[in-house]
Amino acid sequence: MADWDPSAYLQYTDERSRPFTELVARVPGTPATIVDLGCGPGHLTAVLRARWPDAHVTGVDASPAMIERARAADPGTEYVLGDLSTDDHTADLVISNAALQWVPGHRDLLTTLADRAAQTFAFQVPGNHDAPSHVLLREVAARDPYAGVVGPVERRATADPAEYLDRLARPGWTVDTWETTYTHLLHGPDPVLRWISATGAQPTLRALEVMDPALRARFEDEFGAALREAYPEHSYGTPLTFRRVFAVATRA
Ligand SMILES: C[S@@+](CC[C@H](N)C(=O)[O-])C[C@H]1O[C@@H](n2cnc3c(N)ncnc32)[C@H](O)[C@@H]1O
Repeated sequence: MADWDPSAYLQYTDERSRPFTELVARVPGTPATIVDLGCGPGHLTAVLRARWPDAHVTGVDASPAMIERARAADPGTEYVLGDLSTDDHTADLVISNAALQWVPGHRDLLTTLADRAAQTFAFQVPGNHDAPSHVLLREVAARDPYAGVVGPVERRATADPAEYLDRLARPGWTVDTWETTYTHLLHGPDPVLRWISATGAQPTLRALEVMDPALRARFEDEFGAALREAYPEHSYGTPLTFRRVFAVATRA
């Protein structure tokens, strides 16, 4: 996977942090150790520290740029470069926000990740793989001349709350799953393009840029026009509907 751009990702911090705050609010008890899988640029440790100031937190991420940014911004936390699917950290709380959808076959990995938690395994994933933003990304990327460079854009489907419940509800565990659809109100020019360029569209844009920066610019023009039509701007801003799925599995 192409590396991430922490600065681009840190736009819309408030909108992107809110689901994590709501996930953390549902975690019971007082973990002494926490592992944050796919921790990103480290800004969400503030949420963990506000809730459990004495916990030892370890962030794991596969992106060198994200880990570098996290270490610089948050020296009080241990940040480790690694793949969350093979990482072997254990902790009272194993938590992951907006990262598992990037791991192929993440559904089959869930009980392995839960078993690394002495108390609680909690995660949030986006449930918007069929939202207009992602459908349009796949459609525009399938056009010439982009398709020859990026290939088919993967539909990173996550499961519904009921499936996550079914997978995690093993003997000895209590499981809470739910979904929330946010209506983020974005501002400025092409806000949905800016939002998705830092996340779902990032591998596509990176691949085009590596081939030819002009090709990326051309793609952004086409994709941006399609997004403006799908997400019209109003006098009060541009609403972006965004579904997210949550799970908290706790040892009984
Ligand atoms: C959308 S960001 C989420 C970052 C942070 N958790 C947050 O909520 O702001 C997704 C993160 O998952 C990381 N990631 C994706 N696949 C990964 C993997 N297999 N192992 C570790 N990290 C991964 C990416 O590098 C990226 O930092």
